[in-house]
Amino acid sequence: MILPGATLGMLGGGQLGRMFTTAAQTMGYKVIVLDPDKNSPAGIIADEHICAAYTDDSALAELAQRCAAITTEFENIPASTLAFLEQRTVVHPSSTALASTQNRNVEKSFIRAQGIATVPFVSINSTDDIASIGDQINFPAILKVATFGYDGKGQIVCEDLQAVHKAFEALGQKECVLEQRIDLEREISVVLARSQDGQISAFPVAENVHINGILHSTTVPSIAAESLQQTAIEMASTIAEGLRYVGTMAVEFFVSKQGDIIANEI
Ligand SMILES: Nc1ncnc2c1ncn2[C@@H]1O[C@H](COP(=O)(O)OP(=O)(O)O)[C@@H](O)[C@H]1O
Ligand SMILES: [Mg+2]
Repeated sequence: MILPGATLGMLGGGQLGRMFTTAAQTMGYKVIVLDPDKNSPAGIIADEHICAAYTDDSALAELAQRCAAITTEFENIPASTLAFLEQRTVVHPSSTALASTQNRNVEKSFIRAQGIATVPFVSINSTDDIASIGDQINFPAILKVATFGYDGKGQIVCEDLQAVHKAFEALGQKECVLEQRIDLEREISVVLARSQDGQISAFPVAENVHINGILHSTTVPSIAAESLQQTAIEMASTIAEGLRYVGTMAVEFFVSKQGDIIANEI
């Protein structure tokens, strides 16, 4: 157990990092934020801000040396950065858990391997992959870059195969995932925490409205059927266990017009 008074490290100085910092400080912890932006939201309120790149080994070594434990606020920290820190101090979530969530193809395959439904998808790495989609996907579909997308960025709706070719070109022929577009009844998400000894505790299920791929509003509790909410919590817990996740995470779900519950992303 790491008691108040100790120093915690946060990789990333965004808004989630800022909420973490405020909560940790309220409990009596000190927080050092590492973020390359000198005006990051969390960096400016932390006890200390190390202004450095996530790949700066000497800055990371300093962070590890000064922190009882280190965590991250977002999925795009290189997994190798966490692996470097794991050699030196306590790090949660682990580099392997993070690696499973950084690439949409890896993430969806991982979710399916846990026995949880995802949208129909195909990994697109080349124009040959587009040619062999066949009937795996019904249109309309959405082509998404596999890495570094957020807030609907790097996503193009495609009405037919021809449009997928164009979209792949427009996205710089980077690794993509092509997803069937689902007729959404609603979107819900589960935020949960899992402890080192595997105990899971979930917040009430949240109901999310996205406009143009960007989160517009979250309402808690969700008005979805109680049984649906229970299923979402069970699915999110299965995913957390599969990842051996330690820390706080969220799983986004689609609820289709047919009433199916489908995991979207971690
Ligand atoms: N396959 C899909 N079917 C229907 N809507 C989708 C689909 N994929 C994404 N969306 C819409 O776009 C939003 C953002 O997509 P998401 O995959 O969660 O990417 P991001 O990383 O940008 O949050 C979703 O919350 C949803 O509203
Ligand atoms: Mg999302």
